[in-house]
Amino acid sequence: MILKPFMREGVMPLPVSFISTVSKEGVRNIAPYSCIMPVLRPLDLICFASAEKRDTLKNIRETGEFVINLAGVDFEEKVIPTARANAPEIDEYDLAGLEEKPSHTIKAPGIMGCYAWMECRLEKEFKEERYSLVMGKVLRLEVKDEVLDHDHHLNPFVANPLMMTGSKNGMHFCTIRETNGFEPFASMFPTGVDPVTTTG
Ligand SMILES: Cc1cc2nc3c(=O)[nH]c(=O)nc-3n(C[C@H](O)[C@H](O)[C@H](O)COP(=O)(O)O)c2cc1C
Repeated sequence: MILKPFMREGVMPLPVSFISTVSKEGVRNIAPYSCIMPVLRPLDLICFASAEKRDTLKNIRETGEFVINLAGVDFEEKVIPTARANAPEIDEYDLAGLEEKPSHTIKAPGIMGCYAWMECRLEKEFKEERYSLVMGKVLRLEVKDEVLDHDHHLNPFVANPLMMTGSKNGMHFCTIRETNGFEPFASMFPTGVDPVTTTG
């Protein structure tokens, strides 16, 4: 089957992260974002795509900060309340029945109940007419101890990360399972040495 070119997330499962921000007036905002990716190992940058008409983007431009909250499947019911085009003066923590988790390096709070939090400072905005690519510098990355195994490996059975694929008419929520395969980074290099690990 040939799909329409815009159906990229139909063949590419994406995380459903929640980005929390605060407006310059102090109103707390939450929105689900799936068009998100880290920028290369071992940099501390993360990038997401935002449509122009987003309170999230406006708040980040005003305050220069945001938290990327990684949630488990138990957050599925919080997706639609926070994804609705709520008026900017609505506190979306109250609206969605979510509690804030104070941040350590920025004023914008995270969301209690998630399994990981990236406190970010705006590094750079790549602005187009109708959307922007927002690049943040991760200042602090916290993860719940119980979702990590040895080697800082995210245990998918414990974390159950909330993910989605898009179909013709909507979003299908899912999570990950492991193949139990493992390869050290070093196996990508002919020398058998991972330059990132050895230099970093
Ligand atoms: C699962 C999911 C993923 C989304 N991902 C994005 C995204 O990556 N970029 C974006 O601009 N909007 C995305 N949206 C839409 C925003 O969450 C939605 O427009 C929201 O109302 C924005 O809130 P805000 O105006 O408070 O920022 C997504 C919505 C859902 C349900």
